[in-house]
Amino acid sequence: MGMATTASNRLLLAIVAAVAAAAAAPASGAPPAFRRVYAFGDSFTDTGNTRSTTGPYSFGYVSSPPYGATFFHRSTNRYSDGRLVVDFLAEELRLPSYLPPYLSAASDGVGVNFAVAGATAIEHDFFARNNLSIDITPQSIMTQLAWFDDHLHLKAGSSKEEVADALFWVGEIGANDYAYTVIARDTIPPKLVRNMAVQRVTTFVQGLLERGAKYVVVQGLPLTGCLPLAMTLARADDRDNVSCVASVNRQSYAHNRRLLAGLHELRRRHPAAVVAYADYYAAHLAVMRSPAAHGFTEPFRTCCGSGGGAYNFDLFATCGSPEVNTSCAQPARYVNWDGVHMTEAMYKVVAGMFFKGGHAYCRPAFSDLLARKAQGKP
Ligand SMILES: *[C@@H]1O[C@H](CO)[C@@H](O)[C@H](O)[C@H]1NC(C)=O
Ligand SMILES: *[C@@H]1O[C@H](CO)[C@@H](O)[C@H](O)[C@H]1NC(C)=O
Ligand SMILES: *[C@@H]1O[C@H](CO)[C@@H](O)[C@H](O)[C@H]1NC(C)=O
Repeated sequence: MGMATTASNRLLLAIVAAVAAAAAAPASGAPPAFRRVYAFGDSFTDTGNTRSTTGPYSFGYVSSPPYGATFFHRSTNRYSDGRLVVDFLAEELRLPSYLPPYLSAASDGVGVNFAVAGATAIEHDFFARNNLSIDITPQSIMTQLAWFDDHLHLKAGSSKEEVADALFWVGEIGANDYAYTVIARDTIPPKLVRNMAVQRVTTFVQGLLERGAKYVVVQGLPLTGCLPLAMTLARADDRDNVSCVASVNRQSYAHNRRLLAGLHELRRRHPAAVVAYADYYAAHLAVMRSPAAHGFTEPFRTCCGSGGGAYNFDLFATCGSPEVNTSCAQPARYVNWDGVHMTEAMYKVVAGMFFKGGHAYCRPAFSDLLARKAQGKP
């Protein structure tokens, strides 16, 4: 082989290497923005801290089939047929695995999920004092902050930089507070629940910021009035423009408004951090306004439920119970999975709106948050 051939081979090799590198790099040319995520919340975010024996009342069969049937092909104690928004977040960030639940004792390679099904924003003592603690999950969002502290202390070599480098994902929290107090409306009106719950959530986020968190995404409440459970319990004339329970949706709307004001104040006090609001309400509303445009033919019927009718929901024979051991044939066409929690298909649509929907569903936009992380300046 002559000199000229060797030189041209080298050139070819260099070109091939350059093309291969370009193909492997993401479109932006940047490495994955976050390598670690810490998640918090309730059953909409819990990836396995709960079990059937510990889960919330009436939804006590999360460890049984057909939970998990679509994606994991077994129950992982997620309240869905497959992945949740936080799982799609892990995929979006190209983490090597989904977040392990805190109670699973898995190692913290990609972060930890502290969310617990049934968790409240307000501390458990409040419900206990008001005799509302029967069958209520004892963990609140503040319990999850204490777990986070324990985790940091136990984790050898964890540092302030690691906290500053991580993404903090605060899933919806507060819906259970309204649900648990619904039978005590005269003594604990929704307005009091709202004031207390939002105060707890903002104190929690403040706690994250004080521990050095620089990137935080906080979800609002969904349209709780569109859940089959609410539709079944409410009066038939209590309906809004998307045919859901008007009074319950108004409650979630008011909660989110107050939460937004709280986040606004936190941003003012912590200008060196990004505190984004993921607008679950707007995402859910977009789907309920035009389900077909998002691939859904069943906005109201429960996929894994019983009783038939408009909602296919029976509080005394819920998904996973001996009476309900199968789901609908096509979960991807249903918004709702078990009467309260969403199908994987719905979680995927909502996640797509959060990550790719610009300012419409996340403010600041998720892409802006990633860009600021890539530049290293929140
Ligand atoms: C809770 O129940 C106890 C015992 O039945 C009763 O004495 C107490 O007044 C109740 N508290 C409230 C806030 O209802
Ligand atoms: C339609 O209903 C939703 C949910 O209750 C509400 O948030 C929204 O403001 C309503 N839109 C109009 C135009 O009334
Ligand atoms: C599901 O329940 C039905 C009726 O209760 C029963 O006949 C059937 O064997 C059950 N299937 C499984 C897989 O457990």
